[in-house]
Amino acid sequence: MKKLIIINGPNLNLLGKREPNIYGSLSFTEFLDKIKDKYENVQLDYFQSNIEGELIDKLHEVGFTNDGIILNAAAYTHTSVGIGDAVKAIETPVVEVHISNTFNREEFRHQSFISPNAKGVILGFGLQSYELAIQSFLN
Ligand code: DQA
Repeated sequence: MKKLIIINGPNLNLLGKREPNIYGSLSFTEFLDKIKDKYENVQLDYFQSNIEGELIDKLHEVGFTNDGIILNAAAYTHTSVGIGDAVKAIETPVVEVHISNTFNREEFRHQSFISPNAKGVILGFGLQSYELAIQSFLN
């Protein structure tokens, strides 16, 4: 059984309530329940934090044992050298995801410290971005 984890960064705990015009009205836990039912042959873990260092600690913790990491570092994507370095330091491949298409938004969202060290990047498909990332590890 493949062992995957979704790691979500700051403000993503508010999905469903936060700017629903951009991020949709489904909460992440509702989405996760559906996706876990659909991919029952995958061990799918979930971690969310609003704290940069906790995201780095989690990457270190799972980054040598998991089969894959699906990372939406949210705003830290655009600012965090530390999270970028952590993605480089670990062995488990990381797929970077974003709900919105960050390239049709403000210029500061076009920069990513994750992308250079990610296996791939999936963005702009709403919550389906996460599902596409899961599928990328199954193929
Ligand atoms: C986001 C895009 C980021 O620019 C933003 O800061 C987020 C969410 C996305 O999933 O579209 O919080 O990562």
